[in-house]
Amino acid sequence: MTGRDLSDREAQQFGWEVVRQLFVLLRIARLHGANNEAWGPALTKVQWAVNESEGINLRALDGAFYVSDVRLKVDRENYAAQEGLLKAYQSHGVGAVEIDVAFDPAHLKALLTAWGSSKPPTPEQGLELLSGSLGEYQLIRLSKAMQRTAAVEKDARNVSKAIYIRTLNAVEDVMESVKINQAFPLKRAKRVMQRLVDNLLGDPVNLLGLTNLRCYDEYTYHHSVNVCVLSLSVGRRLGLPRPMLANLGIASLFHDLGKSRVPVEVLNKAGEFDEAEWDMIRRHPVYGVKTIVQLKGADELASRVVTGSFEHHMNFDHSGYPKLPRPRTLSLYGRVISMCDCYDAMTSARVYNRTPATPERALKLMLGKSGKAFDSVLMKVFVNTVGIFPVGTLLLLDSGEIGVVFQASEDPTQGDRPYVRMITDVKGRELSQPVDISLTETTAGGRFARNITRILDPKEVSLDVAEFFL
Ligand SMILES: [Fe+2]
Ligand SMILES: [Fe+2]
Repeated sequence: MTGRDLSDREAQQFGWEVVRQLFVLLRIARLHGANNEAWGPALTKVQWAVNESEGINLRALDGAFYVSDVRLKVDRENYAAQEGLLKAYQSHGVGAVEIDVAFDPAHLKALLTAWGSSKPPTPEQGLELLSGSLGEYQLIRLSKAMQRTAAVEKDARNVSKAIYIRTLNAVEDVMESVKINQAFPLKRAKRVMQRLVDNLLGDPVNLLGLTNLRCYDEYTYHHSVNVCVLSLSVGRRLGLPRPMLANLGIASLFHDLGKSRVPVEVLNKAGEFDEAEWDMIRRHPVYGVKTIVQLKGADELASRVVTGSFEHHMNFDHSGYPKLPRPRTLSLYGRVISMCDCYDAMTSARVYNRTPATPERALKLMLGKSGKAFDSVLMKVFVNTVGIFPVGTLLLLDSGEIGVVFQASEDPTQGDRPYVRMITDVKGRELSQPVDISLTETTAGGRFARNITRILDPKEVSLDVAEFFL
């Protein structure tokens, strides 16, 4: 086998470098062919990573890359490269590319030029073609893909993932352009929302799972998308018609728009806020309103965003901020968004040293405020949406297995028996391929096959829950 044993960190570092650069090279091959000076720098970077790892074997399996049996954890920056290279592997029927230390960059170039050519060979032809030249490429070896990869590639999870990431990018662009005082790209926001709503109505499970993707470096963007997915899921349970869902979606996606006027140093401060900083933070709902009102071409939709921004910290009983001289009932959007906002904020690590609450702990704290800070009827809907054991909750089962909740049970009387993605076997060994089960499954004797022993804190078992939704 190629390569030394890499630590997880090394595998991530070198593995991603190779994925990113191969993707860059593939694009160069497609756009410019073999004769272009752009090849040099990327080839050098591949060489560096291959040298550091003493040879590398980049395997594709079920929509992810593996190096030294370590799964490369995807984030937003690497997402495009991963998907692009996976597609290239897939269309050439390749399961792994193994590169030895002494490989000749010219051979890698020849291989990628073949992949990038305008008439790509069929998978069968491709393998034959390349294995035909194995003599020449002996320091770069290809192995055949397992049939499974191609099928799983297209599955629903990947569609949701792409939509989630596209929404994330849209939020970033909108907030950045608002920051430099450009107009609010409302058309783009509407387009993204259309896709999100379509996906959510067709297949709500995957998107809810993705709200476990939390990243403190880009807290505000992830938080915005998560609050939006949660709000839309609540809206769906409430049976809101599609146009209302789209409005609720936009309002929730930009509820924290006013934060673009709060300095980043304040937003990302690790310690406690002082009074002046609190003052600034407390102003973000009003900043959001001002931002939208000042924009050119503010229409009806913009007024929805205004409401979401203005009301999301106000609380049902008006105990929050901003204070109104004459309190009036919060709008439905405001009430939904404030619940989802609170839940996501509690379960996320806003700064790197802050420990987030587990989903069920957050839910318990919020239930304590039902009828006060939160509308009690909507709070019930919220619990039904995320489940008594919310999506992302890590469970130890009486079988000894560990799993993560990925969907609430459809049957309200079985609310305590969600769908679980199994992570380990009965002996606590991590499964190479997660298996989905329902806790309502029964044995031949009619008893439940598995029961929940207790909720685990991800820290206890050093697991990153988000990984199982990617
Ligand atoms: Fe906020
Ligand atoms: Fe928020």
